[in-house]
Amino acid sequence: MAELSSRPPGVSMDASAVAQIELDLLLEAIFRRHGHDFRSYARASVERRVAAFVASKGYARISDLTADVLHDEARFAELTQTLSITVTEMFRDPYVFAALREAVFPVLRSWPRCRVWHAGCATGEEVYSLAILLHEAGLYDRSTIYATDFNDAALGVARRGIYDAGRMRDYAQSYREAGGAKTLGDYYLANYGSVAMSGALKQNLTFASHNLALDGVFGEMHLIVCRNVLIYFDRELQDRVFSLFADSLVRGGYLCLGSKEDLQFSSAASRFELVDREARIYRRVADR
Ligand SMILES: C[S@@+](CC[C@H](N)C(=O)[O-])C[C@H]1O[C@@H](n2cnc3c(N)ncnc32)[C@H](O)[C@@H]1O
Repeated sequence: MAELSSRPPGVSMDASAVAQIELDLLLEAIFRRHGHDFRSYARASVERRVAAFVASKGYARISDLTADVLHDEARFAELTQTLSITVTEMFRDPYVFAALREAVFPVLRSWPRCRVWHAGCATGEEVYSLAILLHEAGLYDRSTIYATDFNDAALGVARRGIYDAGRMRDYAQSYREAGGAKTLGDYYLANYGSVAMSGALKQNLTFASHNLALDGVFGEMHLIVCRNVLIYFDRELQDRVFSLFADSLVRGGYLCLGSKEDLQFSSAASRFELVDREARIYRRVADR
């Protein structure tokens, strides 16, 4: 006769442990069905966002959402928007842009070409910000700027370069703090509550889909800007991305991270040297 202790494991699990299994299965379903890999994202943040999505859509449990993610493209697209946090602004942390101007631009000037990669560019504000400073430093014409994200809706906004006029006053202040030489208004046309970034700034910009969790090297870059993206990744995925960046940079090329991001303890740390701790700017050194 079967002992009580021979019951299959899991029968007495509490609801939160079951929800963890459901979350694992949801992330696995997303990966296998759609190729987006959220399995290596910081767990607490994914958990919070999925729970809010489940509640807002009226699902009783995560498993019900999993069924829709497998069979309903529109629902999957909505969930992706929730899991991809696209908050951004122009000249965010102006001291970082000032540091790029002061420490990195002089070296960029010494190279005949300048290839820049903004990884996780969201809706593009950061990209136009750097393009403006490159223009003012006389470096824009020799620059090719690739701006990538895995969120196609955000990339669409970035390509159009049309933003809410209401935010421009704050952005103008940050532009001045970043050391902007002109007036921010010189770089856009205002029209009924929105502004359109100048076509001249778009000439050397290419926006493209690229998934840092899955896709490969984006080669021969002189500067990679990837800010406020890696905070959402777990350690293993961060290591993958740091190696990807090291492989994508020319020797002496620069990497700029977000204020809460650090490659000090990553497996790729020895491939970089620190240039500016506060601005999180690193330089690619030769492999030993
Ligand atoms: C908070 S925004 C940062 C925007 C900008 N870099 C900044 O600092 O203002 C994070 C961006 O990373 C993107 N992202 C998240 N996971 C990604 C991945 N695996 N591959 C590419 N982009 C990703 C999101 O879609 C989002 O647009």
